[in-house]
Amino acid sequence: MKRTVISFAVALLAIVAYAAVTPLYLDESAPLEQRINDLMSRLTLDEKLSIIHAQSKFSSAGVPRLGIPTFWTSDGPHGVRPDVLWDEWEQAGATNDSCVAFPALTCLAATWNPDMARRYGLALGEEARYRGKDMILGPGVNICRTPFNGRNFEYMGEDPYLASQLVAPYVQGLQSQGVAACVKHYALNNNELFRHTTNVIVDDRALHEIYLPAFKAAVQQGHAWGIMGSYNLYKNYHNCHNPYLLNNILKRDWGFDGVVVSDWGGAHDTEQSINYGLDLEFGTWTDGLSEGAKNAYDDYYLALPYKRLIEKGKYGTKELDEKVRRVLRLFMRTTLRDHRPRGSMCSAEHYAAAREIGCEGIVLLQNKGEALPINTATVKRVLVVGENAIKMMTVGGGSSSLKVQREIVPLDGLKSRLERDGVIVDYARGYVGDTISSYNGVTTGQNLEDNRTSAQLIEEAVNKAREADVVVFFGGLNKRHHQDAEEYDRESYGLPYAQDAVIEALAKVNKRLVVVNISGNAVAMPWRDRVAAIVQGWYIGSETGHALADVLVGDANPSGKLPYTWPEKLTDVGAHALGDYPGTKRDNEDIWDEEYREGIYVGYRWVDKAKTKPAFAFGHGLSYTTFKLGKPVASATRIAQGDSITFTIPVTNTGRRAGAEVVQLYISDLKSSLERPLKELKGFQKVYLEPGQTAMVNITIGRDALSYYDDQRSEWVAEPGDFEALIGTASDNLPARIKFTLTE
Ligand code: BGC
Repeated sequence: MKRTVISFAVALLAIVAYAAVTPLYLDESAPLEQRINDLMSRLTLDEKLSIIHAQSKFSSAGVPRLGIPTFWTSDGPHGVRPDVLWDEWEQAGATNDSCVAFPALTCLAATWNPDMARRYGLALGEEARYRGKDMILGPGVNICRTPFNGRNFEYMGEDPYLASQLVAPYVQGLQSQGVAACVKHYALNNNELFRHTTNVIVDDRALHEIYLPAFKAAVQQGHAWGIMGSYNLYKNYHNCHNPYLLNNILKRDWGFDGVVVSDWGGAHDTEQSINYGLDLEFGTWTDGLSEGAKNAYDDYYLALPYKRLIEKGKYGTKELDEKVRRVLRLFMRTTLRDHRPRGSMCSAEHYAAAREIGCEGIVLLQNKGEALPINTATVKRVLVVGENAIKMMTVGGGSSSLKVQREIVPLDGLKSRLERDGVIVDYARGYVGDTISSYNGVTTGQNLEDNRTSAQLIEEAVNKAREADVVVFFGGLNKRHHQDAEEYDRESYGLPYAQDAVIEALAKVNKRLVVVNISGNAVAMPWRDRVAAIVQGWYIGSETGHALADVLVGDANPSGKLPYTWPEKLTDVGAHALGDYPGTKRDNEDIWDEEYREGIYVGYRWVDKAKTKPAFAFGHGLSYTTFKLGKPVASATRIAQGDSITFTIPVTNTGRRAGAEVVQLYISDLKSSLERPLKELKGFQKVYLEPGQTAMVNITIGRDALSYYDDQRSEWVAEPGDFEALIGTASDNLPARIKFTLTE
């Protein structure tokens, strides 16, 4: 008894002593805002200024005097970027920064599986922690408005609802590791061409209904701790200091309590940065000389130039304190946490996540005569053709370029899988595209030089194709300039390097031709009817070859669905049909006004309005098994404002293989005061079924799913009246319909 009392007293004393010496801001049991107040009261003006801008390419200063560590950011969004020199983009030459490359975000979006997004974020968060990073610059959720956008591969497709459902769990998974997300590029950064000088003109409905929802979901559902302003302009303000997007919408209306980070070099002016929402300035170009400062980072807009304005009395510290509070909140959430997970790198779990996400995202677009999966019981010889079968794709494309511990290219993955079953695999190059094998000092170690003429390459491929049971062509784009890369939009919708000629020639000599397209964008497929199967293979990262082999051989049953419409031709896209892309240059000013005249009619919304027929519809994706949807029932026929309604749909796997189907629910507003798209995705669920198994899928929707943004009243309105739920497995395959009424 006596002993217990003594131990208790000692423990109590220890707590009291700890509390006496531990400053409040380090006491994680104290309320967050009190800790911030405490820390604020201890900071000098210079310390406050020092934490709102960069101190190197990817880090910002902490406050060493108070034990606040340096804050480290890193790209993002598909893996942790290799370390660069303090002040340069070039590699630091580290030997412990080779990561796992996860599938590109278009592939993640194609899984239509929020659980995969969470797993992705979590695995990436673990890699980031291991590498000592506090913020990942991603994910990206800019809407795919045109297949010309060089960075669509870093984003989650064309639909605001789909992107919203995936971004929130990605952010949560990442942040569960104590690593902040920095959701980018906010907002309206829908093309790379003239990205610094494009002033987007968009109506309020399209802004709120199409371009902002995924950011809003990242903030309100994902609770993202960071948002990156985009390079472009909106209403004539650059988006890294934009009063409308940052102050009004993000911070005031959505209640964002995190940090607005400038895209690298996206800040342009001190007073605008002070007033219009920027909190943490990164990447501003400076020659390090003009201000005569010791350190070029002191020339940042939010560094000495800001201090001078305060010293002159032009500004007090109100705006500064607001930024500092946000940055300190970010520190509390990350670097000032005592028990942050330590992370892990290149673990078996991370590779498994990369492979499974890849498998689930691969989309089987076409499969005539059941050319796929390759049946190794009957197929004896497979010919693989194409540069993308052998080219590493993790290096290149801009800031998402990675240095990987390993990358299985398609040929290696497929060959090892097929050879295991005794199938003979041969290879022919077919075409030579891009032989550059380095980016920012990271080299793949591949030598892809080949000096043969295109006639010679085609001849070789065709001769070998004649002898093969199955031919698998791997082509597409490759992250080189204008072929899915940052800073450069694509310049044509067709495949580069005369790949069409190779495919046409192969199709003439072998009926079992499978085309695997590697890209983050749709491409023209003039040969579509002449090939047996088409697979969309994205950029899958480290496990590319394994994931593709899993699907091609049938070890995995494809269940990916297109996260964007695959247009037949470019003029089937609203932005191009109306001729708005890439905008018009102003006289005497280097600004391009780009009017989004298609408004809310982006992707399948445009398809429905213009009555075009895409090559492959949004939401389309085949399986090796078959599914049947039974008759859906609704929980009600009339609902009041604020109520929800549940649709129950029986789904049966009617084929012979286990597989997954995505049940998709679109809402059509049958009569509305404002013009609305014919239908909009408002619910979906992926369901795994054994052969013969039936599951009941429940999809519940509420007011949000029925609302439009009323641009006169500046608010979301769910207008009473009749609605119809359209249910099926692709935006062009929605056989089940149920009407219901929203009452006054
Ligand atoms: C890109 C960002 C990236 C940043 C840092 C910018 O050029 O637009 O997405 O996070 O560079 O690399």
